[in-house]
Amino acid sequence: MERTQIKNISNNEIDSSFLISGWVEKVRDHGGVIFLDIRDASGLMQVVVEPDDKELFKKSESIRMSYILEVTGILRKRPEGTINESLTSGELELVSKEIDILSKSKPLPFQLDEHAKVGEEVRLKYRYLDLRRPEMQSNLKIRSQVNHIIRSHLIEDQFIEIETPMMARATPEGARDFLVPSRLYNQKFYALTQSPQLFKQMLMIGGFEKYFQIVRCFRDEDTRKDRQPEFTQLDIELSFITEEEILNISESLIKRIFFETLNIEFDEFQRIKYQEAIKNYGSDKPDLRNPLKLVDVKDIFEKSSFKVFADPAQNEKARIVALKIEQEISRNKIDEYTKFVGNFGAKGLAYIKVNDSADLENGLQSPILKFLSKEEISGLAERLELSTGDTVFFGADHRNVVNDSMGSLREKLGEDLNLIDQEAYKFGWITDFPLFEEDIQGNLSPSHHPFTASQGGITALRKDPANAVAKAYDLILNGSEIGGGSLRINNLDEQLEVLSILGIDKKEAYEKFGFFLEALSYGCPPHGGIAFGLDRLIMLLCKQESIRDVIAFPKTQSATCLLSDAPSLIDKDQLDMLSIKVIEEDK
Ligand code: AMO
Ligand code: AMP
Repeated sequence: MERTQIKNISNNEIDSSFLISGWVEKVRDHGGVIFLDIRDASGLMQVVVEPDDKELFKKSESIRMSYILEVTGILRKRPEGTINESLTSGELELVSKEIDILSKSKPLPFQLDEHAKVGEEVRLKYRYLDLRRPEMQSNLKIRSQVNHIIRSHLIEDQFIEIETPMMARATPEGARDFLVPSRLYNQKFYALTQSPQLFKQMLMIGGFEKYFQIVRCFRDEDTRKDRQPEFTQLDIELSFITEEEILNISESLIKRIFFETLNIEFDEFQRIKYQEAIKNYGSDKPDLRNPLKLVDVKDIFEKSSFKVFADPAQNEKARIVALKIEQEISRNKIDEYTKFVGNFGAKGLAYIKVNDSADLENGLQSPILKFLSKEEISGLAERLELSTGDTVFFGADHRNVVNDSMGSLREKLGEDLNLIDQEAYKFGWITDFPLFEEDIQGNLSPSHHPFTASQGGITALRKDPANAVAKAYDLILNGSEIGGGSLRINNLDEQLEVLSILGIDKKEAYEKFGFFLEALSYGCPPHGGIAFGLDRLIMLLCKQESIRDVIAFPKTQSATCLLSDAPSLIDKDQLDMLSIKVIEEDK
């Protein structure tokens, strides 16, 4: 008899014989009758062992959880009162005629339906067991479905899927490289690619006008909930293309993914310029489900005698913002939030409670009121449209500190006060990024990568690099950056100019990526592209908390694989072959 997958057994086939196989998920011995819940990749079926067949019954008594069985039996309807509404096969059962034990199992280190209790470490050590959970099965099925949709959509649109090397030359792309020693070339290393950036640009020079790849990328960064040292990108590049076209192509692909997996349709994604995002949210990846906004109030305090506000009000690089919440916040909570913003470098968190908005003189409550003038208070009341019951928080400092701390406080308040619809998906494009980021010391680094074109071209670059605007864009979803890209520089002079602004002179540039600079000088079409973080996208789509829940064999937050115990020590012989001497770290 041939095996039938459980999902294919229907209640039109009562009294037929079936052969199923799968894991024993539950054993219940009800004195005279044994019930076995059998799960295969498609579903769950209750198997009944009746006592008349003495031999079969005896064999069944030895069956334990997680054994793998092959069961032949006759399908019947469950008796009234024993129907399980939550299962598609819940009104059916298979009365066993023959049972083969295909594989035995030790008792599991954790019960699959109690995975939440055991902690992630145990789940990752026994990942193959954790993968049996219906939730993990569903996440990885959706992931496969998304890959399939991507391939169909892009190939229908004349894209070509091309693989690029993972072992390449180390190039400065932003993150630390994972290095692979070369056995054949003493002292030399390959670097695992952080992304196919330069290769995809060279594919454009190589005459492919529409490229994509679902590709593994490697970055030796500090791992977080939404970051892994190896992760997967959907990487796209096109020649003779505008920014508008790239956004549209991307948007229609993302919409199709959500429609075909979740049956959800979206309006056109909101577009927000970078400066506007920072102004309103203090962040370039705001959660757009959160209605709170930062409000600039620096001008109100230009002549203030309150030192905490007066100093930043006079400082060109500083910012003063207010964050209004239409709720009263307790003293304890305010102390907690003051500590919270401290983690982002804020020196304090001034606040005002509005007890009576009709009486600005006596109706406000705050330790800072005594320092504020009547004009400052009425200025605030008007700008913030204060109402009775509101609480207002203030951040005043270098703009980076204010954006980080108050942007994060906005996110935290959104969560704490339940202002976010957890079921919703809110996409947005962030556009017009600055070409460079400036740190507090005034050093410039690329805000995307050094191959990104600027809006004003080389003239604007030379004149005022710190304020150059890039032709770069990110796609955000519920507070995460799920993709980013740009139009690229396609001429050598502009490329060298950007590198020199970053402190890489011509000589060093040719040493580091002369191969690419050479390629740029043989007719490089105007081109641009984008890469999506597929793990992140799928994590959000599946409403999972961690990127690890949509990766079959992920690394931990500390970049280890608990299952295979990687990274590991290497034999001396193998190291000798690579001419590598390991120095033990000082304890
Ligand atoms: P970028 O570095 O912005 O761009 O990466 C693109 C997207 O990849 C995801 N991502 C990550 N996901 C998981 N773990 C990580 N460690 C990680 N790092 C990044 C993010 C991000 O938006 N070559 C350019 C793209 C281009 O310009 O076309 C690039 O790699 O979702
Ligand atoms: P202080 O004068 O330091 O006692 O601060 C008075 C109030 O201003 C307190 O409520 C502090 O939390 C708050 N405060 C201090 N520094 C800042 C700052 N940089 N931004 C916002 N509020 C601040």
